[in-house]
Amino acid sequence: MKILRMNSIVAVIVILAVFTTFFSMNGIKVDARWKDHSTGYYSEKYRPQFHFTSEKNWMNDPNGLVFYKGKYHMFYQYNPYGNKGGNTSWGHAVSKDLVHWKHLPVALKPDKLGMIFSGSIVVDKHNTSGLFKAKSGGLVAIYTSAGDTQQQSIAYSTNEGKTWTKYKGNPVLPNPGIKDFRDPKVIWYEKEKKWVMILAAGDHVRFYSSKNLREWKYMSKFGENEGAHGGVWECPELFILPVNGDPNNTKWVLQVDINPGAVAGGSGGQYFIGEFDGIKFVNDHPPDEIRWVDYGKDFYATQTWFNTKNREIWIAWMNNWEYAESIPTHPWRGAMSLPRELTLKTFPGEGIKLVQTPVKELQRIEQNPYKWKNKRINPGKNVLSDISGKTIEITAEFELGSASEFGFKVRKGKNEETIIGYDAVRNQLFVDRTNSGQDQFNKQFAGKHMATLHPVDNRIKLHIFVDHSSVEVFGNNGEIVITDQIFPDPSSEGLELFAKNGDVLLISLTVNKLESIWQKNK
Ligand code: FRU
Repeated sequence: MKILRMNSIVAVIVILAVFTTFFSMNGIKVDARWKDHSTGYYSEKYRPQFHFTSEKNWMNDPNGLVFYKGKYHMFYQYNPYGNKGGNTSWGHAVSKDLVHWKHLPVALKPDKLGMIFSGSIVVDKHNTSGLFKAKSGGLVAIYTSAGDTQQQSIAYSTNEGKTWTKYKGNPVLPNPGIKDFRDPKVIWYEKEKKWVMILAAGDHVRFYSSKNLREWKYMSKFGENEGAHGGVWECPELFILPVNGDPNNTKWVLQVDINPGAVAGGSGGQYFIGEFDGIKFVNDHPPDEIRWVDYGKDFYATQTWFNTKNREIWIAWMNNWEYAESIPTHPWRGAMSLPRELTLKTFPGEGIKLVQTPVKELQRIEQNPYKWKNKRINPGKNVLSDISGKTIEITAEFELGSASEFGFKVRKGKNEETIIGYDAVRNQLFVDRTNSGQDQFNKQFAGKHMATLHPVDNRIKLHIFVDHSSVEVFGNNGEIVITDQIFPDPSSEGLELFAKNGDVLLISLTVNKLESIWQKNK
């Protein structure tokens, strides 16, 4: 009996000790599991831990995104021989959950028509192309052959994308005399049972149709006088989504990248909402209204996965052509963003907007959540001083108070920090990387990027992902997104919750450590 009582006292003491190690009255205490253990594979300085990077060499746009036989395929612009653009091929990786990736051999290599520039992949399940022996068809890649001119070519695969055969009749869409004529994205237009290609052509996009993926007919063009035109248009996208989840009310989204001339400088994405009737796209909004996809500097060449049924998911190259070839990473150069799920939502006074949220599959790598509720935050005291890390996810909701600015300082070190905050005077969400770490490699890199975000019921929600060399910030459930690379010293791991010139009410806060996606991939 006595022994039993002793045991339970010991147990209570142990539980209390563990509990108090986690939490204290003034701040949140952290245990040893939060320490970084990254050694070995994928542990180089700045190496992203939960974002996709190739093992080595240069990578840019995601290409040929397709869900097929239970796997998400990701191809990407890749230089197998160097850490700058060139020898452009299609690298290949595959994932069962959009989070953990397995590297596969290079899929498409340059040929006499040129390098393999960006493009897409479709599942030709009824063998419309006639390229497959089996009735069940296979995968067809539609890409730009970039040689003396840019033209569109196709290749097909009968073994789930492992190996590819280039079509003998390439190019399937020769160059009509337009210098920039590239990045075909092909979709299946069910109503007329035909393939539709959207293609970037300098300062506009063009639409083509085909019954067999081999012969293409010009249909229409869009954009010469619409949206932003500070640079060339690249990598277009076209998809349909329900508005506010209502399947009877759908809208088409046309996304196109621009380089340079984007909102934060250099390259970035813009989108249009409207109608597509199988032939042409009509913008619902005035031609000079510009809708930016992301307000940071590092979200480019985004593409959606083909064949994901009722989910629309995209991923982007987390980089900017302004400095992409000089970012200080080695032996890889270039990372992908997190995959994001897309919806359309109506906002009072603003109409319909594209909303992006990180895919729910990311919950698989969340570890050790610290949760907190209802705490008034005042200037001067960092209640998160016990939490630190290089791979963290923060979910927070604030009720505005007298503070003119509040938010988080992440990857904080002696002389550097990245500020992710809300400016309550200007109603702006921002990421300030002016003092975030190494930025000498390019004059355009340091800076502050912001976007208007209105509080809802006087509240602001932030969902933040911090990795070894990036931050992705989703404001108010993905109404606004800011994606920026940062290159802080590995020792800069501090985290601060701040309020400036007044207070703010922290309604709720969850901080997770995110597990590396690469450890198991050795
Ligand atoms: C966009 C882009 C595409 C092109 C590819 C070349 O980043 O310039 O227009 O196909 O990269 O790698």
